[in-house]
Amino acid sequence: MDQPVNTFRPVIRVIPGRVTSDGDGVQLTRLIGGPGLPQLDPFLLLDAIRSDEPDAYIGGFPPHPHRGFETVMYLLAGRVRHRDSAGHAGVIEAGGVQWMTAGRGVVHSEMPEQEEGLLAGFQLWVNLPAAEKMRPPRYQEFAREALPVERREGGVEVRVVAGKTSRGSVGPVTELIVPVTYLDVTMPAGSRFEEALPAGFNAFLQPFEGRLEVAGEAVEAGSLALLGAGDAVAVEAPQASRLLLVAGRPLGEPIARGGPFVMNTEAELRQAYADFQAGRF
Ligand code: CO
Repeated sequence: MDQPVNTFRPVIRVIPGRVTSDGDGVQLTRLIGGPGLPQLDPFLLLDAIRSDEPDAYIGGFPPHPHRGFETVMYLLAGRVRHRDSAGHAGVIEAGGVQWMTAGRGVVHSEMPEQEEGLLAGFQLWVNLPAAEKMRPPRYQEFAREALPVERREGGVEVRVVAGKTSRGSVGPVTELIVPVTYLDVTMPAGSRFEEALPAGFNAFLQPFEGRLEVAGEAVEAGSLALLGAGDAVAVEAPQASRLLLVAGRPLGEPIARGGPFVMNTEAELRQAYADFQAGRF
């Protein structure tokens, strides 16, 4: 049952994506983690990848380390093979998600398992609280079929990656260290989507097809709408659209960030580099 709604969240700011490249020449659009929005506690980074030009993705993300946070890959199209220093390996297929808790450290690679065709998906980084930054690494991986799909009024479809919707669907990613709601919402032209979100969570919308209207504000595909205070969100789709709705409970802790390491202090950051250089990951 829907929870009672008091206030719909307004759009505070629309952040245009910034085209850049990472890994070995993978073209992507950075929505969180760039100059426009360095972070949105607890989120440290959001990259959108979408290309049918092999040159823009074939280099993939060769081996690189992480410490102190979680990386979430949600794939819309294509196949990505991942492999890590602890011997963990697999293939993420379209519609699937890999939620990796890097904790004290992994060295992993993410490489396209295709030489042509569309590769599309998102990489989200979720910060860990100080007490969990050095926990052992952990993976949660789920194929498309494991994600519940809610069919709502007007033909709206809600795929639940993580969290629990107001109608009770629960995403397959559980044991979340930082509470996160991660929804993939498909909206036919003229439809409306409403969803309750905890008032204390930071939240954003990222339309990747079509165009949305949120509290009278237009949000184009490829940009990110930062949502303000409230306990629900209402979205209108003037044309057929698809979006991510992501919300998370902020940590409110200091952040010391250096490339692939995100800790609380500069000393911990130096230790992360030293441990990595010494092969202690
Ligand atoms: Co990585």
